[in-house]
Amino acid sequence: APVQVKNILCIGAGYVGGPTCAVIALKCPQIKVTIVDLNKARIDAWNSADFDLPIYEPGLEDVVRACRGRNLFFSTDVDKGILEADLIFVSVNTPTKKSGVGAGFAADLNYVELATRQIAAVATSSKIVVEKSTVPCRTAESMRTILEANSKPNCRFDILSNPEFLAEGTAIADLFSPDRVLIGSLQTPEGKDACAALASVYANWVPTERILTVGLWSSELSKLAANAMLAQRISSVNALSAICEATGANIDEVAHAVGYDSRVGPKFLKASVGFGGSCFQKDILNLVYLSESLHLPEVAAYWRQVVEMNEYQKRRFSKRVVDTLFNTITGKHIAVLGFAFKADTGDTRESASITLIRDFLSERAFVNIYDPKVAESQIWQDLAEACPNLTLENIKKQVKIFPSAIEASRNSEAIVIATEWKEFKTIAWAEVYESMKKPAFVFDGRLLVNEAELTKIGFKVATIGRPTA
Ligand code: UDX
Ligand code: UDX
Ligand code: ADP
Repeated sequence: APVQVKNILCIGAGYVGGPTCAVIALKCPQIKVTIVDLNKARIDAWNSADFDLPIYEPGLEDVVRACRGRNLFFSTDVDKGILEADLIFVSVNTPTKKSGVGAGFAADLNYVELATRQIAAVATSSKIVVEKSTVPCRTAESMRTILEANSKPNCRFDILSNPEFLAEGTAIADLFSPDRVLIGSLQTPEGKDACAALASVYANWVPTERILTVGLWSSELSKLAANAMLAQRISSVNALSAICEATGANIDEVAHAVGYDSRVGPKFLKASVGFGGSCFQKDILNLVYLSESLHLPEVAAYWRQVVEMNEYQKRRFSKRVVDTLFNTITGKHIAVLGFAFKADTGDTRESASITLIRDFLSERAFVNIYDPKVAESQIWQDLAEACPNLTLENIKKQVKIFPSAIEASRNSEAIVIATEWKEFKTIAWAEVYESMKKPAFVFDGRLLVNEAELTKIGFKVATIGRPTA
């Protein structure tokens, strides 16, 4: 029979583990939830007296305030957490490998493996181990092999796959009412019991018809597939945006008309300067690598094109900026509004903004950055990583960070909107226009501004998916 889960451990206090397990604690006051991480600074931030949490996510602070110290605990003591728990989420990072076999494509499973080995080494009682990080198919199988090879007598480990589908910026809302919760398990009686135990945790707030139970490998593949299909929609619409710019069609109108088909649906058809985030590119490259290792080169090429189109979109946009500014931006000042990969997050992983700024710097432009949530130190770190041929000192000669859009725009030749922050809709454009060099350009990479209104003020506006007027 399924065990009654009383004590949950989450290994990894990042963007996935933190919000997910905080919400479990909120919705299941009868369960003790402990979130551990090796990174002490991160844990200290989760525990900070003024709730200065390590990640920005709307609504997260309220959730943590409601349960921290009640049934939600943050700690660096991984071993103690393992000993106490009856269910363990493994929610550690799985970056793309930087070297070795599959470099640039395959996931680096080192963190998953280390966490799994630690569970095996420390546990003295049976555990349900839940794979929560996005990992390629068959990782659960490897985790199972490691656990079984290292376990002690009377210690059974049941492995589940429970991919997380939350999107950053809306994580709390997504967790409160998920489209679905997916749980994969072995189709054995023990596997099904473990699955039922986890399902009953979610059943505290998720309607049971939204809790889907499938085989382990289907569950793992579904996460990669969902992200690949979502990213594919964006690359499809972005490919069409290039045709629009060349013909006079308007991508907003095209996407609207296409999305009205109930078989297509309206969401995730917003043309942009390119998708970013920790998941889409990484998951597709995983899928490409998986396809190649299964000797399915046509499948690999199909999905690889989604990422290539995204790279093209970013390149195309920075080229449009250069072309429009009379074929040179050397010595010009460009204000880049938005550094995060999407609105309502301070996360910058794979942000299109980074690629654009790198391109502008290589053209020897000056770049003024403003983002409402990204920390300055993060911006410097990302730019240093993106421009390995420049020292940070040299980068700082070309780049300045400003505390507002207005200040970043002053005396610049052009504004580039890279992130769809809502506040960019209500910028005092007339005032900004006065402070800029003329002709003053706005490049809207997010279909955000009112082109007619800005044109009336005097701006030259170039919007993604529309020909330059
Ligand atoms: C299509 C469009 O649906 C329609 O809007 C347009 O006006 C004309 O082209 P049609 O070709 O008549 O219509 O049929 P459709 O139902 O779209 O199916 C096209 C093909 O896709 C069929 O061979 C169908 O079997 C196949 N298909 C459809 C799948 O293989 N899987 C699916 O999920 C849906
Ligand atoms: C994504 C998936 O949505 C989520 O289900 C999964 O768990 C993790 O990966 P996330 O990366 O946090 O979530 O954000 P998402 O809203 O999907 O946006 C990803 C990128 O696509 C962003 O850069 C966003 O700006 C861009 N995007 C999204 C578009 O360019 N156009 C769109 O229509 C939608
Ligand atoms: P994600 O977006 O997948 O949540 P993050 O990088 O935000 O990824 O979070 C993963 C966290 O997991 C990091 O804070 C990292 O320090 C932590 N971590 C990695 N390996 C271990 C481990 N063996 N034990 C505890 N924490 C770990």
